[in-house]
Amino acid sequence: MKILSSPSELTALTQQWRQDQRTIAFVPTMGNLHPGHLSLVQLAQQRADITVVSIFVNPLQFGAHEDYHHYPRTLEEDCQKLSTLAIDILFTPTVSDIYLQHLDCSTKIQVPQFDNILCGASRPGHFTGVATVVNKLFNLVQPNWAIFGEKDYQQLLIIRQMVKDLFIPIQIISAPIYREADGLAMSSRNRYLTPEQRAIAPALFKILNRAQQQAQTTYRQTGHPASYQTLENTLLEELTLAGFQPDYLTFRAQNTLASPQPTDQHLIILAAAWLGNTRLIDNLAFTLT
Ligand code: PAJ
Repeated sequence: MKILSSPSELTALTQQWRQDQRTIAFVPTMGNLHPGHLSLVQLAQQRADITVVSIFVNPLQFGAHEDYHHYPRTLEEDCQKLSTLAIDILFTPTVSDIYLQHLDCSTKIQVPQFDNILCGASRPGHFTGVATVVNKLFNLVQPNWAIFGEKDYQQLLIIRQMVKDLFIPIQIISAPIYREADGLAMSSRNRYLTPEQRAIAPALFKILNRAQQQAQTTYRQTGHPASYQTLENTLLEELTLAGFQPDYLTFRAQNTLASPQPTDQHLIILAAAWLGNTRLIDNLAFTLT
């Protein structure tokens, strides 16, 4: 595994590989790698001749009062984990390698269709930061494939939309959510949880499962979709009773993230909720049958 922080060294290498007709798969991350990230790396390795992973904690996607400065930076441990997978390149640029100007003056990419709903409503500017950095990284790596986790479902749709709108010749591959044995979706932020909060955290996925079961049961028994609004209110109460401060819990259409129409069967329940100072997100996609 070669560790590079210089964009020009990276582009020299990737250009050579493309000339040699070798395919490239790319996994962008912010580091503090866990088995969820590593599952994306394995998908990349199955696809392509060359696997490039990046670790860059992107300041542009953090709000002023968010955890940018405290975000876990664990490069040494991350390198150890990646070395067991035999990837080709680990790209670890600095902020000034990626943002040549002050962040306020930097060119930005906005994907308005999904930008200011759900997590975007609670984190203004977050997805502009994500789309901008992913676009920069795509231009440096120019992979055939890029792998993103379904854990960050809204992010995944934003990247897909950006690639489509800007004619970026990269195929986006999604990877299923990787969970702890008790159902908690793996996340670098889980390490912020106190033991008491960690014990509560799996309730989020349990409540998503109940939401799916209730929607499915109503549909089978009546032939009509449930009142999503009523179901959401009950489940939000359950989240609060379990000890969370819910941000949102909502049923949406899988492809558009719009509120489901009565004929929509491909649905997703998305939730964000706080445990103390830690914001957890999770989702569950399903089809009404
Ligand atoms: P980060 O949170 O480090 O996540 C990197 C990738 O790993 C994302 O595609 C994310 O969806 C995926 N991932 C995280 N937890 C996962 C899990 N439990 N199961 C499956 N996949 C999981 O997402 C980001 O970084 C950044 O926004 C980034 C795209 C790198 C841009 O800065």
